[in-house]
Amino acid sequence: MIAKEIVEEVLARTDLAALIGGYVSLKRTGSNQTGSCPFHSERTPSFTVFSASNSFYCFGCGAGGDAITFVRKIENLEYEDAVEFLARRAGIRIQRAPETFGGKRYDRTRLFEMNRDAARFFHSALYQNTPGAHAALAYLMEKRGLSRAVITHFGLGYSPAEYDVFFNHMKGKGYTEDELIAGFLCGRSERGGLYSSFRNRVMFPIIDLSGNIIAFGGRVMDDSQPKYKNSSDTPVFKKSKNLFALNFARTACAEQLILCEGYMDVIAMHAAGFTNAVATLGTALTEDQARMMTRYTKKVIISYDMDDAGRKAADRAVKMFGDVGLEVKLLRLNGAKDPDEFIKKFGAEKFRSLLEESRTKFEYYFESILSKHDITVPQEKIKAINAMCELISGFYSSAERDVYIAEVAKRTDVSQESIRQDVGRMIAKKKSAYKQQETQKIHQSAAGFADKVNADFVKNPAAARAEEAVLGLMLLQIGHRKRAFTAEINLREDDFFTEFGKKVYSYLQAHVEDEDATELLNESFSADEVGRITHMKIARMQLTDNGDDVFLESVRCLREAIAAARERSDGVTLSSLAALIDRRKNDE
Ligand code: UTP
Ligand code: MN
Repeated sequence: MIAKEIVEEVLARTDLAALIGGYVSLKRTGSNQTGSCPFHSERTPSFTVFSASNSFYCFGCGAGGDAITFVRKIENLEYEDAVEFLARRAGIRIQRAPETFGGKRYDRTRLFEMNRDAARFFHSALYQNTPGAHAALAYLMEKRGLSRAVITHFGLGYSPAEYDVFFNHMKGKGYTEDELIAGFLCGRSERGGLYSSFRNRVMFPIIDLSGNIIAFGGRVMDDSQPKYKNSSDTPVFKKSKNLFALNFARTACAEQLILCEGYMDVIAMHAAGFTNAVATLGTALTEDQARMMTRYTKKVIISYDMDDAGRKAADRAVKMFGDVGLEVKLLRLNGAKDPDEFIKKFGAEKFRSLLEESRTKFEYYFESILSKHDITVPQEKIKAINAMCELISGFYSSAERDVYIAEVAKRTDVSQESIRQDVGRMIAKKKSAYKQQETQKIHQSAAGFADKVNADFVKNPAAARAEEAVLGLMLLQIGHRKRAFTAEINLREDDFFTEFGKKVYSYLQAHVEDEDATELLNESFSADEVGRITHMKIARMQLTDNGDDVFLESVRCLREAIAAARERSDGVTLSSLAALIDRRKNDE
């Protein structure tokens, strides 16, 4: 863990509004600032930065906390990485504690150094005077058409076929077997010996946004399987949170990012001048990756392979980008299976015009509906029109809808009027379904259902609300915090009803003497939990009277609510009933 003094220093040197202002445009409202929440899509701003308490809170989605929480969420970083991110921004150097992996501890800086040494080894192995090296260089330059400049730019390399050359080199540099295995550079055979993970493969280093080499992909040079081998997650690498070449693309993607499937597609695009291309790392697009992209651009062009797998992946990606609020377009590669092949066959200029002709989400779905239904058959035509109306009814702008209605009318030879009516009916239906859903959501959240942070809330909402009041006051004022532990009040963990309440209580007990009890929250709680804790505090902040009497009264209410639950005359308390349900679920 990072020392408390350092966390304090980092927070003190970070101007929260300036930090957030780099991501969200904020408007001053009284002593606070508000803007549109970057963590959920909304039309009316409910995201607030409180200058007095150096915290933020979104009244729409419940995200909240301090600068560290904000960075954890928006940059998708773990706690310590978020502190480091802010430290670097503030010009503070911090010494990181070792990372734990498989029960052992690893020094991150050393692992980054190790990966860099490995990449250097692989790269220089391309230029050795051995048959393997000659074959690898020929593969990259002749077979894949890459120039030396491109090979150097991406730091491509070759991992020799011998099982031991690589690790002997790395051991000579002082890296231990455990480090080589934890970094996925080596594995251990059943007989206990070490072997190199990538053998006789051309190597693609994966670089994070700080320029660290975090992982590798390796491709065979013939048809053997698996075609690519990728580092699995390591102490310094999470597949689902990184994109290949984003380190290069992020400076070139103001207008749009191009998302493709493969390493080679990205490299071919960059080589042809499209330096805004990125790829996932051998997996389907994740929500973390989609959200990451929103930080660099407003628009993504999907350029996946033209096969069934590519189309399926594109469908998923379109939906995911919609969810995070990115505009998406889709490329159609005619006469090539992937962008790499297209550029090789037809050249960069053709690819550029392809980009300009890329289809909107509407066109993409429109075509896919037409390909599924033969509209010369009446029954099929009706189905197609229905699907198209459904599609159009999903667009928010009525001008946009009008354009698409005209398009459908033209293509199907049905009057615009009847299509408009169908679309209108579907919108009305959606609206009432949406309203119902919203009402249900409000009811549920009032009752504490679907409460991911505090699952016990629903078991006794009265007690849970009383808990939040007590904890909110303790968070707000050191006086209340200290008083809670005096003989007079003697607040104990037992006084709390929910697991979450107990956990917050224990945290406050450990930080009773801290002037600002919230500074280390991020160390012990998830970002969502910090949001909830922030809410407890903010809810109290908005009240005028938070004096001692109010605190005493809140504690009394809490104890009463819990006593009432315990003494319920029928003997079946809500909480025991809930526990029973839990037990049944576990038994199933
Ligand atoms: P593709 O099979 O489309 O490969 O997989 P590609 O990029 O066109 O490769 P080339 O052109 O034959 O060299 C797309 C991506 O899926 C992942 C890799 O990230 C690859 O770039 N993949 C593919 C794997 O992780 N493992 C595999 O065995 C195959
Ligand atoms: Mn390819």
